[in-house]
Amino acid sequence: MAIIQNGNQFHLQTKNTSYILGIYQDKYPVHFYWGERLEPDISLEYQAESVSVDRASCFARQLVEGKWVFEPDLKKEFSAVGKGDYRIPTVHARYADGSTVSDLSYEGFRITEGKKELEGLPSLYVLEGDRAQTLELFLKDPDTGLKAALSYTVLEDYDVITRSIRYVNDRPSDPQSAAMSGEGGSDIHLLSAMSMTVDLPAAPMQYIQFPGDWARERSVECCDVKHGIVSVSSSRGYSSHCNNPFLILKEPAATEKQGQAYGFALVYSGNFAIQIEKAPVGTIRVAAGLNSFDLDWTLEPGESFQTPEAVLAYSAQGMNRLSQIYHRVYRERLMDQRYLHASRPIVINNWEGTGPDFTEQQLVDIMRTGAEIGAEVFVLDDGWFGKYGSGRYSCGDWYVNEEKLPHGLKYLAEEAKACGMQMGLWFEPEMMAVDSGLYREHPDWCLHVKGRESAPIYGRVVLDLSRPEVCEYIIGSVGRQIEEVGLTYIKWDCNRYFTETADQMQAHRYMLGFYHVLKTLTTKYPGVLFEGCSGGGGRFDAGMLRYMPQTWTSDMTKPEERLCIQHGTSYGYPVVSMASHIGQIEVGKNARNPYLEFSALVAMGGNFGLEMDLSLLSETEKAQVKGYVEIYKKLRHIICQGDFYRLESPFDGSYTTWEYVSRDRSEAVLLAFQTRNGKNGEQHMVWLEGLDEKKRYQWNSRSYTGQELMKAGLFLEQANAQYGARLIYLEAPEKASQRHSFSGIRQESSR
Ligand code: DGJ
Repeated sequence: MAIIQNGNQFHLQTKNTSYILGIYQDKYPVHFYWGERLEPDISLEYQAESVSVDRASCFARQLVEGKWVFEPDLKKEFSAVGKGDYRIPTVHARYADGSTVSDLSYEGFRITEGKKELEGLPSLYVLEGDRAQTLELFLKDPDTGLKAALSYTVLEDYDVITRSIRYVNDRPSDPQSAAMSGEGGSDIHLLSAMSMTVDLPAAPMQYIQFPGDWARERSVECCDVKHGIVSVSSSRGYSSHCNNPFLILKEPAATEKQGQAYGFALVYSGNFAIQIEKAPVGTIRVAAGLNSFDLDWTLEPGESFQTPEAVLAYSAQGMNRLSQIYHRVYRERLMDQRYLHASRPIVINNWEGTGPDFTEQQLVDIMRTGAEIGAEVFVLDDGWFGKYGSGRYSCGDWYVNEEKLPHGLKYLAEEAKACGMQMGLWFEPEMMAVDSGLYREHPDWCLHVKGRESAPIYGRVVLDLSRPEVCEYIIGSVGRQIEEVGLTYIKWDCNRYFTETADQMQAHRYMLGFYHVLKTLTTKYPGVLFEGCSGGGGRFDAGMLRYMPQTWTSDMTKPEERLCIQHGTSYGYPVVSMASHIGQIEVGKNARNPYLEFSALVAMGGNFGLEMDLSLLSETEKAQVKGYVEIYKKLRHIICQGDFYRLESPFDGSYTTWEYVSRDRSEAVLLAFQTRNGKNGEQHMVWLEGLDEKKRYQWNSRSYTGQELMKAGLFLEQANAQYGARLIYLEAPEKASQRHSFSGIRQESSR
């Protein structure tokens, strides 16, 4: 049983963890424990009793008859404003009389089997047979009619708990019931409506966030949690390049391999906030949900507001294990089931090779060489549509530019088919160029404020997806091309942030419209694989992965930079979700190209593809790339579906080592990179992880036991050059029948 109720205590138990909360004095949901799995019948109500200590009486509050409690000592699961809790509130509401005091107390609970998907928002799902239960706690402020239903779902086998809250204005909406009850219906304004808050014990902690910017997304930043508030957030309209809706809290001693780490992720792609507050008493509150900056969401009588979902995970074995929890649950219960076992196709995309200035013949040439090399989908990027000549950015006019492509898209799709490849197409559907037919026809379809001029960026304004007619236009334009051209792949780009948003409500309604568009298209066209993109990795979040099971990780394809970007991204997101291509590097060498090898192996560390003008490759390089494609096809089931280990970090020095282990632990891939010349350097050892101690693994005509590789380690020879990369494939004997025709590639390289 995933949820054990014992009086006023609820024990949420996953395979390896426990999350325990209670109802303090029958009124307030409080937090008792979150960590390693405890005995099912444990009783932690004494945890709440420790609150009635003798503190300065000016902060004490009589929560229940005859009992004074120092409010900040309560570790809460929910908190409002105006009754003595001065920490970040879960909800902040304003009522008709202008007051903002709320006091929501417990009315009851419900435990149900399974999990409901959230209305209008992406969320994790469960399948029949999954061990999953949902607890709902119902709270109400009798003075104002504001209700909150706190939802907790335990996905037992995934070690994950999801949380969200539905806020309701419980005042009667019809005048007759209002008159009868004597409770006049009036609006409630939500000024902040978080998906969750939790208070963790007073203990030294650190947080890791993943800040960045365009072309340097998701670096890894670790800081001590100090008194005060830290807010990791976006107000750019999308989750953004700059902050990611995922955060780790960990004990200071925790490393990749050991120690306690807590994960907080939001399944949301818009303006979010994850905040940490260390209170004067030392307890640590984490709040996650919509960014409340400028929020004023009106709840009319009878209306409700659903918050985005937060995904919580705990690991007692360090951060790598925490990442693996997210990787698995996202692959299996966030991304659509149709991608669970399917290999992701190897893409050849023309963007870095040609930019938007291509000719039809160039595309056909890239396609043909791509097919020779073994690529599986040709993706035509920006520049194929509208009236390209006069304005590069005629986004919105989603019809083919016949001056550039005289034979149309269908012809290209047929050419691709003739080479044995499928056809994909780039769109930027949320944008509208100022120089476009669409803008001339519907200038008011963009985010704008009446009477104030909109400021185009890159000649584009953002379409207002809070309007149903705009959503329908997008669904129609993308759908028409899918049907007419026979597309099987869409790259969905989005290259600028919001400006001139009327308010934060419009920004959230935009997201609701956006998710409606994605849900409609992905349901209607199940054979099309959608790849998310936002000026590179500006919208790499769990909300997107619900509909688009992979994202273009970054516009930065220099492999030495990509190491950091992919490494940082892997903390919160699975390897298969990170589209990573060999970019446009210097080629044309009539010899084996070491930097090409380095680029290829970095790209093979994720969802591999090609992004270059293949016509520039020498015959030797072409053979080289063909070799990488072949290898990746043989290994992608391990890389994309296996367990991922960060053995060495590019943020720590000149070595990066990534390991991928198949679920049955009979195969493993090691990708090892060196970014500085290792001449006369120190010895380089790596200690593998996740193998079967007893199994023997073969590599380079030698065999090693899992124990040897994990405990005694593997010696990696250094490259006598700046950029060294090597791939090691380890296989246990039972796989010998499927033995691949290579035993690893290795190359020291310099540019
Ligand atoms: C930004 C993307 O990240 C690139 O891959 C490319 O599609 C360009 N946009 C096209 O404008």
